[in-house]
Amino acid sequence: MRHQLYLAPLQSFTDFHFRNAFQQVFGDVDRFYAPYLKMTNEGQIKEGPKKDVLPIHNPFEAVVPQVLVCGSHDFLIMAEYLQYLGYHEVNWNMGCPYPMVAKRDLGSGILNQPDRIVSILEEVMAKTPLKIGLKMRMGYEDTSDILRLLPLLNKFDFTEIIVHARYGKQLYQGGCDHDRFTECIPLTKHQLVYNGDINTVDDFREVSKKFSSIQHWMMGRGAIANPFLFEMIQEDSDEFPEDWEPVFYEFLQLLLASHLKESSNEGNILLKTKHFWEYFESGIPMLSPIYRKVKKLKSLDDYHHLISI
Ligand SMILES: Cc1cc2nc3c(=O)[nH]c(=O)nc-3n(C[C@H](O)[C@H](O)[C@H](O)COP(=O)(O)O)c2cc1C
Repeated sequence: MRHQLYLAPLQSFTDFHFRNAFQQVFGDVDRFYAPYLKMTNEGQIKEGPKKDVLPIHNPFEAVVPQVLVCGSHDFLIMAEYLQYLGYHEVNWNMGCPYPMVAKRDLGSGILNQPDRIVSILEEVMAKTPLKIGLKMRMGYEDTSDILRLLPLLNKFDFTEIIVHARYGKQLYQGGCDHDRFTECIPLTKHQLVYNGDINTVDDFREVSKKFSSIQHWMMGRGAIANPFLFEMIQEDSDEFPEDWEPVFYEFLQLLLASHLKESSNEGNILLKTKHFWEYFESGIPMLSPIYRKVKKLKSLDDYHHLISI
């Protein structure tokens, strides 16, 4: 059986450079999500993410854009922008856990206000033709918010509800609450997408066995660490593909070329590259010797040389 596999949005990582290089080299991803658009204090859509979703930067498969909002006014401004760019769907982020965000009722900070969520959705869905999907944690203080919320959402038509099976205050600590996710399944008429800590094929086997009615899965950190994860899951194989090395290096070269096309700030690109390599090193054990060299690199020229095999 072919699973539906999605690449999660990760701000600073899964931008258009990454998504485009990824789509040219790796297969088996059914949907890509762009990191969230948000408003500046001046009421404008923030420039970086606004640029990230431009059609010119997204020439391959359509991505699903995302918004971080806690009111219908801002939601509709962003929806209108996305509609103007030609998008048909928008994802609402109700998962961001960071206190600075959550204390302003954004991200997971809104999950304990189910009536407010419903009233935002009523207004937005009456006024935008875009289809709407949700991505949420299971609560803010603990994982119980979702039990009250899901039944209230059954009167709407969403494309999907993606659930990262943690609560906000947890940040990324502790494990995912699989028992709570199991409780969620009968509470919704919507298509649930499971998200959280699928880092290896074995992790996937565990969750897909536990949640046998779920067919849609989202991977973030595990997929950045090992971009072959989607293919390995589809093939139910613990082995990396035989040609992993040339494929991976082609990906690195495309990623670097895309960054260089956009920016001349080599120091920034090198720093960003090193952050990526912290992930790669954890997901592709064969890269450890190269990672040691990457950590010490002082120039992008040297990096370019290192990845030109
Ligand atoms: C650095 C970082 C940035 C993230 N940015 C976003 C984001 O922009 N939008 C979002 O919905 N989730 C964001 N997330 C959450 C991920 O999409 C995902 O839900 C989470 O990492 C759990 O999945 P995983 O265990 O497969 O990584 C981010 C996570 C990390 C670690």
